[in-house]
Amino acid sequence: MIQLGKMTTKHVAQVIDLKVLPAQQKFVGAMIDILALSNAQVRPYIVYEQEVIVGFFLLDTVFNQTHDFAENKDLGLRKFFIDQAHQGKGFASQALRCLDEHLEEEYPRFKRLFLTVNCLNTVAKACYEKAGFEDTQTLYEGGPSGPQHIMVKALCPEKG
Ligand SMILES: CC(C)(COP(=O)(O)OP(=O)(O)OC[C@H]1O[C@@H](n2cnc3c(N)ncnc32)[C@H](O)[C@@H]1OP(=O)(O)O)[C@@H](O)C(=O)NCCC(=O)NCCS
Repeated sequence: MIQLGKMTTKHVAQVIDLKVLPAQQKFVGAMIDILALSNAQVRPYIVYEQEVIVGFFLLDTVFNQTHDFAENKDLGLRKFFIDQAHQGKGFASQALRCLDEHLEEEYPRFKRLFLTVNCLNTVAKACYEKAGFEDTQTLYEGGPSGPQHIMVKALCPEKG
């Protein structure tokens, strides 16, 4: 069963070894650079099954400071990936389902979850759509590897 957890220093050795396929590297960048983004406001998470770390993502609580389409109550999902050895097993879908519950409990002040996904990354876009994200039909041009779709999901529609 897939679970999510906050990444701590004890996970660094396993996390640094996570990899995506060479053709996917342009979509998330190098692990060392991803970890450099994390801080108290841009929080690293692990996706694990049993004791094995199979994926990673960042939750950006100040996403609106670097993405002008977002507002104060918008959370950002960034650098989401599943290790190449564990892709295609449904882990991303399961992780995104777990994330919904986690956000409800741990991030109640946020009303929407945003992400951007490279226009060439059709696999990830399909995965996000299956997980309930909607394409806003607008593009973000600030990514390092070309235009990205901006996708969003309401966390709790009744919140003001
Ligand atoms: C995108 C990614 C997270 C999907 O992870 P995954 O665990 O392999 O995905 P799942 O097995 O849960 O599959 C979920 C959906 O993704 C899509 N998908 C996954 N692998 C696919 C493939 N090889 N071809 C086509 N679609 C695929 C399908 O829509 C699938 O749903 P389905 O099983 O109902 O058909 C993974 O490919 C990845 O880490 N890619 C590299 C990093 C990346 O691009 N991250 C996104 C940054 S925005």
